[in-house]
Amino acid sequence: MPPLPSAHDPASPEAGARAAHMATLLAQLRADLRAARDDRSAKALARHREQGKLTAVERLDRLLDPGTPFLEVGALAAHGLYEGGVHKAGTLAGIGVIAGRECVVSSNDAMVKGGTIYPMGVKKALRMQTIAMENRLPFVSLVDSGGAYLPLQSEVFPDIDDGGRIFYNQALMSKLGIAQVTAVMGLCTAGAAYIPAMSDEVVQVRGTGAIFLGGPPLVKAATGEEVSAEDLGGADVHAVHSGVTDHVASDDAEAIRIVRELVACLPAPAAGWIDRAPAEAPLYDPAEIDGIVPESLAQPLDPREIIARVVDASDFLEFKASYGPTLVCGTARIHGYRVGILANHGVLFSECAQKATQFIQLCEKRRAPLLFLQNVPGFIIGRDYERAGITKHGHQMVNAVATATVPKLTVIVGGSFGAGNYAMCGRAYGPRFLWCWPNAKIGVMGAEQAAGVLISVANGQRERLGMGPMPVEEEAMIRGPVLENQAREGSAWYSTANLWDDGIIEPARTRDVIGLCLAACDRAPDPGFASAFGTFRM
Ligand code: COA
Repeated sequence: MPPLPSAHDPASPEAGARAAHMATLLAQLRADLRAARDDRSAKALARHREQGKLTAVERLDRLLDPGTPFLEVGALAAHGLYEGGVHKAGTLAGIGVIAGRECVVSSNDAMVKGGTIYPMGVKKALRMQTIAMENRLPFVSLVDSGGAYLPLQSEVFPDIDDGGRIFYNQALMSKLGIAQVTAVMGLCTAGAAYIPAMSDEVVQVRGTGAIFLGGPPLVKAATGEEVSAEDLGGADVHAVHSGVTDHVASDDAEAIRIVRELVACLPAPAAGWIDRAPAEAPLYDPAEIDGIVPESLAQPLDPREIIARVVDASDFLEFKASYGPTLVCGTARIHGYRVGILANHGVLFSECAQKATQFIQLCEKRRAPLLFLQNVPGFIIGRDYERAGITKHGHQMVNAVATATVPKLTVIVGGSFGAGNYAMCGRAYGPRFLWCWPNAKIGVMGAEQAAGVLISVANGQRERLGMGPMPVEEEAMIRGPVLENQAREGSAWYSTANLWDDGIIEPARTRDVIGLCLAACDRAPDPGFASAFGTFRM
C-alpha cells in the first residue's frame, strides 16, 4: 500500500496560526478536565476522609492495572448543566484494564451531591451499559450513591430511558453472560441499592457500605422505627442475614483487592476476529494535526492530511479516488487493526453517497470496521441535484450506514451538519464510540443559514400581509439570537455535556483512542455478515 504524501509544512506561518488556535482550545479542554476531576468542596472531602473512604479517583487508581491505558467516557458530562458543579455527571467511568482484562468501570463520586443520580447521570449509566453490551465487556461498579437526585426526580424515574432502565439492562446483561461485579463502598440508597442487588457478585465494605431500599430517615418517617444505617443495611446484615452480599471487606482497599480477584477469575474473552497485523507508527507526527485544522469551518481541510497522521505507516489504499471526490474512502490499519475509512472533503453529492454505499458493502463483506471522520456541511441542495436524485442517493448511504453490522466508530473533526451527521454515522446511527475534536460544531444547519431561513420565512409572512421585506435592524434582531444560540449549542462542549458523544479528545490522541476502541470492539464476537441490507432505492 502506498504511504500518503503530505503537502503540510509545519514551519509555515499558516500552520503556526492554526496550531495556536488549537492550543487555545486545548488549554480550555485541559483546564475543564482538571476541574471536572479535582474541583470538590473541602466539606465533601473532609466528610469522605472522616469516614475513612477513598475518593472516586483514588478507588479507580487502585482498581486498574498500573501503567495500563484508561479510556475515560463522558469526562465532561453535565459540564455547565444544573448550574455547574455536577462533575462528570457524578460518576467517573470508562474502559480500563483489571487483572489483565478490559472492563467497563463506573465509580460514583460521593463528593458530588452525595453521588446522587441526576438525569445526565442516568444517561451516562445507560451509555456505559451500552458499551458493555455491544463490546461484551465485564462491568465493574464501585457504588457510593444516595440514589435519585430528588429535586429532579421526575426526570430520572419512570420513562423508558430513565433510572429503571439501568436495572432492566442489568438483567439483560446477566442473561447475555456479561459479568457484573459491584463493590458497595458507601450508602447505597433506593435506586442505588438495586445496582448491587442486580449484579452477579457483590463486595461490601464493613462500616461504610450499606444497602437499603429506604434509608434511616425514610424508615423513621414512614414507620417510626429508629435504626442506624449499619443495622439497617450494613455488611453484616447482608452477609449474615439477607444474603445480598457475597464478600465482606474491612475497608475500601480490601474491597478493591477482592474485586480484582473476582475479575481475575472470569472466563477469558473469546479470541479477537478483526484482521490484525503488527502496529506501525504513522510516517508523520500526529501532533502536526494541530497545525493542519483550520481556524474556521469555512476553510477546506483535506482529510488525507489527517488520515496520514492517524493510520499505520500512513498507508492508505484509496477507493474510487476520482469519483465523488468530496468523500474520501479507503482502507488502512490503525494499531494493526484493518479499518475502512470514510472522511469528508466538502459537501456530499450523489456520487459520494453511491460511492460510500458501495464501499460500506465491501467493508461489510470483508468484515472491516468502519471509521467515519466527520467534517460535513450536509448534502448538496438545489433543483438540478433534486432532479438527479440526491435524496434517493442520500437514502442509500444512510441505509447502508444504519444497517452495517461491522463495528462503526465516528470522530467529528470539524462540522457535523444536517443529514450529513446521519450519513456519516452520527450518534443516532449506532457507532460503538463517537468522539469530538475541540473545534467540532454540530447543528441542523450552519448558524448563518438557520438565521437566513428564519428571516426568509418572516419575509414571506410579511409579503402575504402586503408588507415589504423587513428592515435590516429587524433582521439583526432575528440573526443575533440565532447566532448566539448556535455558538453555544453547536459547540463540542455542549455536545459532550449532553453526552451526544463519548468525549472531546485531543486531535493528536485520535490514533490511540481509536486503537483502544477497536481493541474493545474486538472483545465481542463478530456480529456476523447479515447479507440482507434494506432495499436500496435506485
Ligand atoms: N437528593 C438530592 N440531594 C441529596 C440527596 C438526594 N437524594 N442525598 C444527598 N443529597 C445532597 C445533600 O443535600 C448534600 O448537599 P450539599 O452538599 O449541597 O449540602 C450532599 O448531597 C451530601 O449529602 P450529606 O448528607 O451532607 O453527605 P453524607 O456523605 O453524609 O451522606 C448520603 C450522603 C447520600 C448517604 C445521604 O445524604 C443520604 O442518605 N441521602 C438520602 C438518600 C435517599 O434517601 N435517597 C432516596 C432516593 S429515591
